[in-house]
Amino acid sequence: MYKIGLIPGDGIGPEVTREAMKVFGAAAAQEGFKYETVEYDVGGDRYLATGEVLPDSVLEELRELDAIYLGAIGHPDVKPGILEKGILLKVRFELDLYINLRPVKLYPGVPTPLKDKGPEDIDFIVVRENTEGLYSGIGGFLKRGTRDEVAIQQMINTYKGVERCVRYAYELTRKRNKTNTLTSCDKANVLTYAHDLWRRVFDEVGEDYPDIKREYAIVDATTMWMVKNPEWFDVIVTCNMFGDIITDLGAMIQGGMGVAASGNLNPESVAMFEPIHGSAPRYTGKNQINPIAAVSAAGMMLDHLGHAGAAAKVEKSISDLLASGKIKDLGAGRMGYTTEQVGDLIAEGL
Ligand code: IPM
Ligand code: MN
Repeated sequence: MYKIGLIPGDGIGPEVTREAMKVFGAAAAQEGFKYETVEYDVGGDRYLATGEVLPDSVLEELRELDAIYLGAIGHPDVKPGILEKGILLKVRFELDLYINLRPVKLYPGVPTPLKDKGPEDIDFIVVRENTEGLYSGIGGFLKRGTRDEVAIQQMINTYKGVERCVRYAYELTRKRNKTNTLTSCDKANVLTYAHDLWRRVFDEVGEDYPDIKREYAIVDATTMWMVKNPEWFDVIVTCNMFGDIITDLGAMIQGGMGVAASGNLNPESVAMFEPIHGSAPRYTGKNQINPIAAVSAAGMMLDHLGHAGAAAKVEKSISDLLASGKIKDLGAGRMGYTTEQVGDLIAEGL
């Protein structure tokens, strides 16, 4: 019996969460496992009504769950940063979800902006470090608001933090068994402290994986290769900030925010799954938004819970639906189906 926390969140979050959990439920029935869900009212509306962002009591409950599913966070009436830092980043840090896993996979039938590239070329995974780097929140101001102002934001890399992240990436590369190549995306040529440690640890841990080929790609070149030769990548491991940036590029080459999913994992405990897209406020309640990324995130949740077969079935159902050409356009309001109907089609495909 799994206990799954739901944070449907803001905007279209609840709509896509409903479809994701519909497919999750269908997969669970097939697999024969039981689960219960606990819903948390967290997000912009709660903040505007009560001033609360993520109450400690909720955080404590989240720690005890098997998995968390998050729809979307972001509200047009809330100043940028409050919900992002107060919910998303807080959960990542407090629950020590040190891996952000972001598959970049072009499904058949989905248009990519990359000329002459197809599904066989775009299929890699980004392992983004999720608890340190430039996101550590360490820094401060001196003489704020004056012409003498100094602002410092520090990039923190720890041996432990890099080690556990790259080790996870090596393991994943081995498990995937595609080209058995792990690429470190860093800036070791300029960040000669923080990323020197990164590189050293990448190599040191790599000694434990003689079967995995090591590649190095400086972050700027990585963005170039992702466009020019995405087929070169199998698994990319990178720091928090670079992972944030390159995965938006990744989402675009895989067909856009309508299909990009992610997982925030602590491989030893709880994990949180979410579509990469935001809350798309103007589509709220219209039953027009594309739920595929959200459903795909639920598939990743199945995998995390140990149901790899069920996760593969969800993937296949999404892939078959997209390959069928039924969905004319992945954009909201242009699918030719409602949000709910797309969820039904994926569930039926199981
Ligand atoms: C993401 C988002 C977040 C990040 C923001 C919303 C804090 O862009 O999940 O990629 O920067 O990690
Ligand atoms: Mn991002």
